[in-house]
Amino acid sequence: MGLNVAIVGATGAVGVEFMQVLERRRFPIKELRLLASKRSAGSKLAFNGQQHTVQELTAESFKGCDLALFSAGSSVSKQYREACVKAGCLMVDNSSAFRMEDGVPLVVPEINPGEAVKALQKNGGKGVIANPNCVTIIALVALAPLHKEAGIRRLVAATYQASSGAGHAAMVELQEGTRAFLDNKPFTPKVLPWPYAFNLFPHNSPWMEDKGYCEEEMKLLKESHKILGDTSPRITATCVRVPILRSHSEALNVEFVKPLSVARAYEILRQAPGVTVLEDRSKNRWPMPMDVSGKDNVYVGRIRADHSNPNTLDLWVVGDQLLKGAALNAVQCAEVALLGKLAPNANP
Ligand SMILES: NC(=O)c1ccc[n+]([C@@H]2O[C@H](COP(=O)([O-])OP(=O)(O)OC[C@H]3O[C@@H](n4cnc5c(N)ncnc54)[C@H](OP(=O)(O)O)[C@@H]3O)[C@@H](O)[C@H]2O)c1
Repeated sequence: MGLNVAIVGATGAVGVEFMQVLERRRFPIKELRLLASKRSAGSKLAFNGQQHTVQELTAESFKGCDLALFSAGSSVSKQYREACVKAGCLMVDNSSAFRMEDGVPLVVPEINPGEAVKALQKNGGKGVIANPNCVTIIALVALAPLHKEAGIRRLVAATYQASSGAGHAAMVELQEGTRAFLDNKPFTPKVLPWPYAFNLFPHNSPWMEDKGYCEEEMKLLKESHKILGDTSPRITATCVRVPILRSHSEALNVEFVKPLSVARAYEILRQAPGVTVLEDRSKNRWPMPMDVSGKDNVYVGRIRADHSNPNTLDLWVVGDQLLKGAALNAVQCAEVALLGKLAPNANP
């Protein structure tokens, strides 16, 4: 027996990953509904060797559904939340619409799986689970076990974020812009605000003049506190878009409350769920987006003692933001909430 599952935003960068993750993890599916806007209604997508027709999303789309994986932007999530929940369907939402709402759990299953279960128990299973921001998930999968051991006092993060973080159209724009650059042809970006090929720029999410940060940077602060259930870590970030297609990299400088040696940090992370330590110090070889793209785990390496500050470590963390930063984390939330267990990563 399987569940009736809807994917909202099935044709998008995250949407197509949902299908592959569900397939790889053998999520029990009775019926799969692929939903998108009117633009792509009627197009076909393959799942488990069969072609499925994309349907236009309407308020009726959730009737008889057990689970809806949303990835079509905040306005769509806000518009269809009521219809989804009223239909008795669990909503796992990838957008930022409800992440900071009281009563909506913000879940990384390796860290706070109990929150996913609580969401289901509330209102007889008609809950909403929010999937955190991709930078936040990738950082916390590595940092939460260290926080448990030694307590994070302060985190200084610098991110190197891939084009696919801005959706499928941004990936295409990077490819086309790169081709035009190499052919010495003019190119005007339409999706991202600035030329991207052989360039980089601070994250293009809205600038918050009162805070002096962009929204993406503030998400790391607020969402980390909610997921860890602890507002004590002081957190600052500089988020940057770099011209690669997939997987975000993060340089994390972490000051701990208690002493934590480099050796102990490696020991903890080698055993941490969802983490792979990848490095070869003799070859100056550390995790790269090309190692991690298409992988379920968050990759960590280059852990060093910060010689400029006591009790402080530097870590280099890379994760596929379309998988652990989005589709995989959402499916894992659904596994915990609806199946009562977390399946092992199929592609660590
Ligand atoms: N990309 C990432 O790495 C990432 C990571 C974490 C979270 N997220 C979040 O996931 C969401 C989607 O991101 P994405 O990168 O997959 O974007 P995307 O590639 O631009 O895809 C957007 C999807 O939403 C659908 N859609 C747009 N407007 C719609 C409407 N009015 N009704 C129904 N469907 C509609 C699109 O369908 P059509 O084909 O019909 O246009 C498409 O399937 C965003 O909220 C984003 O913040 C993305």
